[in-house]
Amino acid sequence: MATPAAFQPLNAQSIQRALSTKTFGRMLHVLEEVASTNTHAAALAQDGAPHGTVVVAETQTAGRGRLGRHWHSPSGKNLHCSILLRAMPAREQQPLWLSWIPLTAALAIGRAVQVVANLKPSVKWPNDILIEDRKLGGVLCESSGVGTAHATVIVGIGLNVNIRRDEFPEELREIATSLAIEAQRPCDRTALLAALLVELETRCESLLAGHHGDILKEYMLRCSTIGRRVRIELAHGEQMDGTAKSVEVDGSLRIIRDDRTTVDIRAGDVIHLR
Ligand code: BTN
Repeated sequence: MATPAAFQPLNAQSIQRALSTKTFGRMLHVLEEVASTNTHAAALAQDGAPHGTVVVAETQTAGRGRLGRHWHSPSGKNLHCSILLRAMPAREQQPLWLSWIPLTAALAIGRAVQVVANLKPSVKWPNDILIEDRKLGGVLCESSGVGTAHATVIVGIGLNVNIRRDEFPEELREIATSLAIEAQRPCDRTALLAALLVELETRCESLLAGHHGDILKEYMLRCSTIGRRVRIELAHGEQMDGTAKSVEVDGSLRIIRDDRTTVDIRAGDVIHLR
């Protein structure tokens, strides 16, 4: 009997057949094992790889998360991919554009999951993909040479797809989830990657055309942080409690602190409090 699509290993031909993008994934590297798809994509960028190059791996031996964390990447279960961006706006618009890329990637993941798995994930600011406060996926963006003619951004995406609860390490079992756990059926990773790439490509084009307002509107609809009591963990171990009020035009998170003062957070780890 043939192996169901959801359990097929990733394969370049099948992925390219499923693509409906113009550029994203047309240059595609499918690897059995790699240290980190982001690191691999950065090396390809150094060698002149084109805009929209995608690296996807069955497993990562040193998958990286935000804030120096490790990303659990068991073989043949989930999606680990990196997309190389070279198309950027004029130099003076690059900082704003760059601050929106991780949030935009989170929106693309949310929409792709909705289309393929019929689930409705939310986004915890800035770019954690959640289903009912359990983490389904995340985004790690790494840029180089911003402000120069050779600027690149690597958008790294990790999404828990077919991993079962008992396959998560103990410390993740209560805080992480996967599409298969939530939908109670396995999910076709090829279809999901193809959907993710087209959703990301469309939004990156919109951002490049300066339509931050459209991305902000979509973000506010998907963001589960707004209106919540939150704890912000800042650099140097500092933390701050308050209520998340809005996401601002530069992608920062506006917090009303308990003493009624307003602070805009540009980077940090957000905890949704009960
Ligand atoms: C996070 O901490 O939430 C971000 C996780 C990002 C993980 C992905 S997996 C593919 C890409 N390669 C990496 O090493 N990290 C990202």
